[in-house]
Amino acid sequence: MIQLHNVFMSYQGDGAALSNVTLKIPKGEFVFLTGVSGAGKSTLMKLLYGALRPTRGQIVIDGINVTKLTSSQLPFLRRKVGVVFQDFKLLPSRTVLENVALTLEVMGWGKKDINKRVYHVLKQMGLEHKINSTPLRLSGGEQQRVALARALVNEPKIILADEPTGNLDE
Ligand SMILES: Nc1ncnc2c1ncn2[C@@H]1O[C@H](COP(=O)(O)OP(=O)(O)OP(=O)(O)O)[C@@H](O)[C@H]1O
Ligand SMILES: [Mg+2]
Repeated sequence: MIQLHNVFMSYQGDGAALSNVTLKIPKGEFVFLTGVSGAGKSTLMKLLYGALRPTRGQIVIDGINVTKLTSSQLPFLRRKVGVVFQDFKLLPSRTVLENVALTLEVMGWGKKDINKRVYHVLKQMGLEHKINSTPLRLSGGEQQRVALARALVNEPKIILADEPTGNLDE
């Protein structure tokens, strides 16, 4: 499902952030990526959802050659991949409901179905009472749970989560 072959990544003007990464993650696997701060974990994730291009090497995700993806093809990859960002990236001017609904809106879901699905996922996260709040009125852990809900809402094939439990209790 996820394959990397001899992937190198260096940010402009810097040394290598990733050097010669080769790995294969089959369907159904649950994989932890560990390493010290600055080791390149977030960089690897960004390569997997197409936010960054590798300097060299090949990345294939569910049959899509990410290395060769054009910007107009990027949405096809993004639909397969739900991302929980290390810094959440919630939209501050939108409510919890609107933040989580956005993916489904872009996918063309109807309003009724969106509301039903979003409510279901927010309930799973214990956030149904915060549905009309904006992110800045939430605690860190609540914001993180909204970010999780947003990544799960369209049941993507792949979920990439960058330190997704840092602010959560058990
Ligand atoms: N936008 C950027 N421009 C230049 N260098 C960057 C950029 N983002 C990350 N780096 C560098 O790449 C290396 C890997 O960073 P990355 O964010 O992938 O680490 P990480 O393993 O996720 O660390 P942490 O555990 O602190 O989140 C670091 O040395 C960092 O300074
Ligand atoms: Mg990181």
